[in-house]
Amino acid sequence: MEFDEVLISRKSVRSFRDKEIPEDILNNMMEAARLSPSFQNRQCWRFIVVRDKDLIKDLALRSGMISKVNFFIKDAPIVIVACADPAKSGTMNDQNYYLVDTTIAFQQMMLSAWNHGIGSCWLAAFNEQKVREILEIPQNIRIVALSPFGYPKEKKSLYEKAVKVFAQSKKRNELKNIISYDKWEL
Ligand SMILES: Cc1cc2nc3c(=O)[nH]c(=O)nc-3n(C[C@H](O)[C@H](O)[C@H](O)COP(=O)(O)O)c2cc1C
Repeated sequence: MEFDEVLISRKSVRSFRDKEIPEDILNNMMEAARLSPSFQNRQCWRFIVVRDKDLIKDLALRSGMISKVNFFIKDAPIVIVACADPAKSGTMNDQNYYLVDTTIAFQQMMLSAWNHGIGSCWLAAFNEQKVREILEIPQNIRIVALSPFGYPKEKKSLYEKAVKVFAQSKKRNELKNIISYDKWEL
């Protein structure tokens, strides 16, 4: 895909086909994350690629912040958990850059996946303690996000349709409402 097309066509995917992600594409996605910029180039991110079906099922059933909100990840061939070691990043102007570093890297990974026809969905509504427990993540490591990755189903699930309506996923602010030139005029 052309780069612009990747950006324009990208959308969150919440229903997945039963098809594995080839190893070379997975490596491409990892490489996209690895090459990301970071605070003092300290690369604080760490990723767990969950491929074990039982672990994915466990995450689907128990990782949600409220009830089984992440249940839809059960059909994804992989779930990737984006972690960070805050001690390997830094703080400036009261901003914790481990979040920024890891977010940039994870988004690069997601865009690389989309370029290969693989969908994902950034998940923030997870219970950090539960995910930590399921995947044996040490206490000093923060879990920034998780996402299922897989080939999108042609027909969206009812759940996916409902979330998209609820989140008004297609809606974006107009440029004039988010950009000003030279000085703050918003
Ligand atoms: C920080 C962040 C947190 C999100 N958390 C969730 C989530 O917990 N569950 C979910 O289904 N989608 C989640 N999303 C996906 C958003 O709902 C989605 O990006 C938004 O509706 C725009 O739709 P699009 O990604 O299809 O363009 C999250 C996205 C971001 C960036």
